[in-house]
Amino acid sequence: LNLPIHGSNPQYLYESLKIPMPGEWLDFSVNLNPLGQPEPLSSLLDSGKIDFSDYPDPRHTSLRLKLSSVEGFDPEGILVGNGAAEIIQLIACHLQGKKVAVVHPAFSEYELACSAFSCSIEHVIPSNPPEFEDFYNGIVRADAIFICNPNNPPGTVMDPALIERIVRFAGEKGCLVIIDEAFHDFLPQGDTCKQMLKVHTNLIVLRSMTKMFSMAGLRLGYAFMTVEMKEVLEKYQTQWSVNSIALKAGEVCLEQEGFVLRTRGYAAEERAGMFAFLGQNDFAFSQSKTNFYLMKDNRLQEQLDLITFLLQNGIVPRHTYNFPGLEGRWIRMAVKDKAANKRLMEVLQQWRAK
Ligand SMILES: Cc1ncc(COP(=O)(O)O)c(C=O)c1O
Repeated sequence: LNLPIHGSNPQYLYESLKIPMPGEWLDFSVNLNPLGQPEPLSSLLDSGKIDFSDYPDPRHTSLRLKLSSVEGFDPEGILVGNGAAEIIQLIACHLQGKKVAVVHPAFSEYELACSAFSCSIEHVIPSNPPEFEDFYNGIVRADAIFICNPNNPPGTVMDPALIERIVRFAGEKGCLVIIDEAFHDFLPQGDTCKQMLKVHTNLIVLRSMTKMFSMAGLRLGYAFMTVEMKEVLEKYQTQWSVNSIALKAGEVCLEQEGFVLRTRGYAAEERAGMFAFLGQNDFAFSQSKTNFYLMKDNRLQEQLDLITFLLQNGIVPRHTYNFPGLEGRWIRMAVKDKAANKRLMEVLQQWRAK
């Protein structure tokens, strides 16, 4: 199997499994906001009024100041990037040749980026629920550890007290901790580890704006860190890597508190409906708190037959073959809008009736 390494762009999944692409499909493989974009963002983009004739601000000053006031964080410790993915790349560049621990299963870019910069990678696969001891060896042996929280793909959240203990211990051992909060704004309370930076300097907290605001094609992310770390990472960054439209869009997104709250409520309600259906129909699911979850047919070992059936019926799932710790035993699904989730339930019912 030569399956795509990420969700989205479903044509590649159809192609790799040699399944003809139907005329219509619903993409559950990408974890974007089920409500789409907030209206002010769409209006801004539709207005055609963003001037991109000149170079964008390479210091991202206006967006950083706005982030600083909204998030209550020193603007000098905020790094803006062309998606969180660019910041992961900058961190990998900084860690060149070092030992890096990655807590799995998790987003694959940490490992891909660090491998590209000749880091040696150690997998940490915690128990369920995770315990401090699960992380001990990884921290002692590595120069840096990546933790995704809320975690992609299961959508689960780690106990903040455990994270704090990990960060403190890592600090004592000279290990940098990168906490990826790309999906934190979907959590009921928007939980974050950002405040730990007041005490712990061995921490980077990563954020993405592409999911909550459905602007994955525009690319925008940022991260909180010490001023010293920001000065190191920005030296590796391509000048003007974040374009003017993304910078302006980011400022508009920071004013969309009502939209964020509505999204959280909507995603929680749709998720609960989906989980009730899955439970009643002998599918297992992860205890997700976000806009995606893992599921599997309890009656199958491997999920490939189900993936094939879904694709044939215009439902695009995200396989988990390239997630260490999952190896294809689960499928990741986005929480989409009501109509799409209803369609997914219908197709799963047809699968059960087969
Ligand atoms: C956990 C996680 N972090 C970071 C990213 C990258 O986000 P961005 O689109 O901001 O580069 C993704 C994208 O899927 C993700 O799932």
